[in-house]
Amino acid sequence: MLACAIAIDQDVMRHVNVRPASVSEQGVLEVLQWRASLDNPGDREALLAHPDAIALPVQQIEAGGVFVAELSGSVMGFAAILPRDDGNAELDALFVEPAAWRQGIGRALVEHCCAVARVTGAASLHVVGNPHAEGFYRACGFALLGTTPMRFGIGLLMMRDLPS
Ligand SMILES: CC(C)(COP(=O)(O)OP(=O)(O)OC[C@H]1O[C@@H](n2cnc3c(N)ncnc32)[C@H](O)[C@@H]1OP(=O)(O)O)[C@@H](O)C(=O)NCCC(=O)NCCS
Repeated sequence: MLACAIAIDQDVMRHVNVRPASVSEQGVLEVLQWRASLDNPGDREALLAHPDAIALPVQQIEAGGVFVAELSGSVMGFAAILPRDDGNAELDALFVEPAAWRQGIGRALVEHCCAVARVTGAASLHVVGNPHAEGFYRACGFALLGTTPMRFGIGLLMMRDLPS
């Protein structure tokens, strides 16, 4: 059974296509972000009360820092990175369609972001993680550095080294 599960994940990794987002996809990606965020237990009420918390600025797409994951031609997730003042990179958004969770799509997006960040000279990728995603980030090689207060609770300060 275990070998079978690993084989499926490797198959997904082979078929996930990660590419830059286009400005015309802004609305589709924000709707995807809504679906993914509402499926985090405990976040739903706060988000519905503060819908402005869900936004993907078009300037971020235009700057080339937003990446879409496609599976068989369908958009299944996206990620966004931003440059940090210290020269490293910040993972600013990461969302996968709930129906496709645990199929390797989030990992494929993280690996793509790491590769792009490395090319820009970043030595590490940082994220302020949702506590629901701690296990995911740990599985993707991030270490927990601390916590920080966020608008709707605590954020996890996490970092992954990007050896060249
Ligand atoms: C977090 C999220 C992006 C993960 O995407 P995903 O496509 O399901 O993740 P993957 O399938 O690539 O998982 C990669 C690894 O993380 C693990 N993982 C995924 N979600 C996990 C979770 N909630 N808890 C613990 N481990 C998790 C997987 O088991 C896998 O580990 P393995 O390869 O060792 O088996 C997705 O659940 C999501 O969009 N959540 C809602 C939005 C959100 O919280 N985003 C993060 C904001 S900081």
